[in-house]
Amino acid sequence: MAGHFKSTRAPTSFPSLPQFQEFMKPCRFEGEIQNLTHRGHIPEEINGTFYRVMPDPQFPSFIENDPWFNGDGNISAFRIKDGRCDFKQRYVRTEKFVREREAKRALLGKYRNKYTDAVEFKIRSTANTNILYFNGRLLACKEDSPPYAMDPSTLETIGLETFDGQLPCVTFTAHPKLDDDTGELVCFGYEAKGDGTPDVCYFSIDASGKCIETVWLVAPIVAMIHDFAVTKNWVIFPIIPQTCDIERMKVGGEHWQWDPNVPFYLGVLPRRGATGADVKWFRAPNAFPGHTVNAYEDAAGNIVFDLPLTDKNVFFWWPDTHGNAPSPEEISAQLVRFRFDPRSGDLELPAHEVLSEEDCEFPRIDDRFAGKEHSRTFMNVMDPSLGSDFSIIMPRMGGGHPPYNAIGHFDYASMKLTRYFPGATHLAQEPVFVARKGASVAEGDGWVIVLVNNYASMGSELHIVDARDFTLPVAVIDLPIRLRAGLHGNWVDSQELALSK
Ligand SMILES: [Fe+2]
Repeated sequence: MAGHFKSTRAPTSFPSLPQFQEFMKPCRFEGEIQNLTHRGHIPEEINGTFYRVMPDPQFPSFIENDPWFNGDGNISAFRIKDGRCDFKQRYVRTEKFVREREAKRALLGKYRNKYTDAVEFKIRSTANTNILYFNGRLLACKEDSPPYAMDPSTLETIGLETFDGQLPCVTFTAHPKLDDDTGELVCFGYEAKGDGTPDVCYFSIDASGKCIETVWLVAPIVAMIHDFAVTKNWVIFPIIPQTCDIERMKVGGEHWQWDPNVPFYLGVLPRRGATGADVKWFRAPNAFPGHTVNAYEDAAGNIVFDLPLTDKNVFFWWPDTHGNAPSPEEISAQLVRFRFDPRSGDLELPAHEVLSEEDCEFPRIDDRFAGKEHSRTFMNVMDPSLGSDFSIIMPRMGGGHPPYNAIGHFDYASMKLTRYFPGATHLAQEPVFVARKGASVAEGDGWVIVLVNNYASMGSELHIVDARDFTLPVAVIDLPIRLRAGLHGNWVDSQELALSK
């Protein structure tokens, strides 16, 4: 039925909307820049590549007010070695990207609504949400489709990743978890039998590439499950109360609609040997769960689950059925902790504990501790008292993405948040953590690498901060170009990259 809502002509320029203007103007650069200039000193111990992805539309959409994260995935790679940094950037050759380049215009319609497309696609992925490394390949992910595999060295697109034909469902989360002990990639897909289906498929790919767990379960509502968490024995699915209605989609409406009347559901499934009947859907008051920090089991067998949480609809551009949505300034997420017994028959979750009240998102840990007890979190924070010059930032920011002016380092032992402030005319993107070398290196001992938007220069900078001294950067790498807001990225050590096929 594609084509019902097709515009007769596609625009040739990007609209005068905040998400396409100023710093949010599409970047659309592909190429290499050798030996980026830097200030300070890049530690010689840092040897690897920071990969990140930004939605970066190749062509202006024919959809009015298209959200900023419906753009084509453009992958940036910062190769850091011997105290220097080389840069490479390349679009993922998705079916959408290739066919639109041939047609010289946008063909994909509304965000996750195939009924609004100008042509019929087999795979609608924009591959714009996360880029991660597994078994010698990069996986460029968007949660409505299988991932695209890419060459970590050349950034060439290899093709759709099906894990040798073992991919059990039609979708794949942008936030799979790598188990550092077993080498498994723990995965799931939601709307796993297609648009509007309540089915969730949990599966795990081991270090040899074999699919070792596949469990189909049914969610209580058809709604977004963007991120999840994995402990040694459990898998946890937080549902965002953005719900899908296939009939609304068929008449050209949005995929998502906020529902303030449903609980915040938390699905809990045994990680090994489960069936779909083993899932329990715990409930808490309606809330918007952000990206997960981590989860683990305490000595009593309780699940400890940390994440930013807010009672407001973060995706305010998808309002409720009455058109109600908060204004962006009202939305603020706190870092919270749920602790509950997964074996309990009482499905009402105990009240969460607020760990930090500061507005935060994009939390990251030392990934070696995924699924185990963590004692530190690095995350984006917004603290207006730090001295940001909003008279410079605001008119040049463009729009759509939330503004964070610092990186927070939350220490669970002291319950204190320290902040790295990148500059008065700067905003920060998602941080990643790079551990110092050696098996005995303590949790959180290393560096935080973060892409920073400089609104005075209208250029991008990569800041490297020592986690031991979270005040000043050890190095600032300057890019001669502007990189639009991205979503997620990951650090891959050179030893792992050497194993690439
Ligand atoms: Fe995400």
